Amino acid sequence: MQEAESAGREKGVFVVYGLAGIAALGGLLFGYDTAVIAGANDFLQKRFELTELQKGWATASALIGCIIGAASAGAVGDRLGRKRSLLLTALLFLVSAVGSALPRNLTEFALARIVGGVGVGAAALLSPLYIAEIAPARIRGRLVSLNQLAIIGGMVVVYLVNASIVQLGDKSWLTQTGWRWMFASETLPAFLFFVLLLFVPESPRYLAKQGKLKKALRVLERTGGGEKELAAIQESLTQTRPSVFELLRPGLRTALLVGVILAVLQQVTGINVVMYYAPSIFKKAGMTIGKAAGSTVIVGIVNLLFTLVAIAVVDRVGRKVLLLVASAGMGLSLVALALAFASSRLGSWQVVAATLAYVAFFAVAMGPVVWVVLSEIYPTQIRGRAMSVATFFLWTANFFVSLLFPPLLKHFGGNVFYLYAVLCAVAFLFVLTALPETKGRTLEEIQAAWLA
Ligand code: BGC
Repeated sequence: MQEAESAGREKGVFVVYGLAGIAALGGLLFGYDTAVIAGANDFLQKRFELTELQKGWATASALIGCIIGAASAGAVGDRLGRKRSLLLTALLFLVSAVGSALPRNLTEFALARIVGGVGVGAAALLSPLYIAEIAPARIRGRLVSLNQLAIIGGMVVVYLVNASIVQLGDKSWLTQTGWRWMFASETLPAFLFFVLLLFVPESPRYLAKQGKLKKALRVLERTGGGEKELAAIQESLTQTRPSVFELLRPGLRTALLVGVILAVLQQVTGINVVMYYAPSIFKKAGMTIGKAAGSTVIVGIVNLLFTLVAIAVVDRVGRKVLLLVASAGMGLSLVALALAFASSRLGSWQVVAATLAYVAFFAVAMGPVVWVVLSEIYPTQIRGRAMSVATFFLWTANFFVSLLFPPLLKHFGGNVFYLYAVLCAVAFLFVLTALPETKGRTLEEIQAAWLA
């Protein structure tokens, strides 16, 4: 009997990895869509004769979509279900890829990018949510972290795609047509995502919430669970009502606040300053354009490698310890970065070294683990909507950090990095005092702990 159970669980783990892999394509498109613009915006500027501000709009318009996507996807996910909502995001990516490849002017382009942005904001929340809901507790952290790996994977792939498109023609071809292929290339992963999603089952927790218990049990059995898990889910569904006002209940209010603050801290500790502006930082530290571009690729690779470390250890070491190590390490690296900028004796390589250390610490926890925690700390009845609130703040913080960095760098030079370092210290104290450890506990146990 026990042997059969453990064999079922083994097979279930295999299935769960497959399903998480498909859902993580949402993360891949998140990375792909946010990074594709980096290779294209100079050509776009020439083609449509854009001013600097218009170029900024061409680049940042997608973020408006992200905020809308984040704010709405949770409600859609709670109503239509996780699977159908993910299918919708795949369609948004498809429409946006075609639309941003064919525009006749900036307005058409920005509109198409906003549509894609809605897809990004929605997928950024729905993919981890779906993965958390199908994952067995003991490997949930690593499965959700796969999504972060896919985000960075998407960024690295599109850098390479853009770099090869640049090889295909001369400047005038690139200005007329080449950049269009950069956006069109996104149809491929978007189509793949759509088709593969057709084969994944709805999340068992969503099915149970809808009263479809037989179906929920069947999915649980395929993913290594069974009657016991279903009973726990059913029990947990009676503890909360499916209303967003539940978030104002005492224990859950704390959960909401913890998620929002953690989401904002992921952004205000400065990661996208590096992700979006690394070449400008390196050039400001005295590098040539070519060297700056090369160093930026290394930043991507380090990000990828250290996310693998997170995947390997998150379910053993736990969320809390990892986040503490990350915020301390990020803070110290930022101080080193500011010092390297200030000292005339130090060269640009110290700037690169400090940046790489910072990204490595981010990748070990602040990147993946924040998404893990956001996907696991809310009750099933309102998980989508609660994640919407938290990630709405995440994207809004991202928008302001990215918007304000260029003027801050211009005014304060390298001293601007002290600001993010201070916020890393805030993150450290917050994690230490306010974040509960969720390692190894089922979603139902986590919910019960908030309500207790
Ligand atoms: C963050 C993004 C960031 C990415 C970089 C994600 O976890 O939410 O804002 O660009 O990691 O690796």
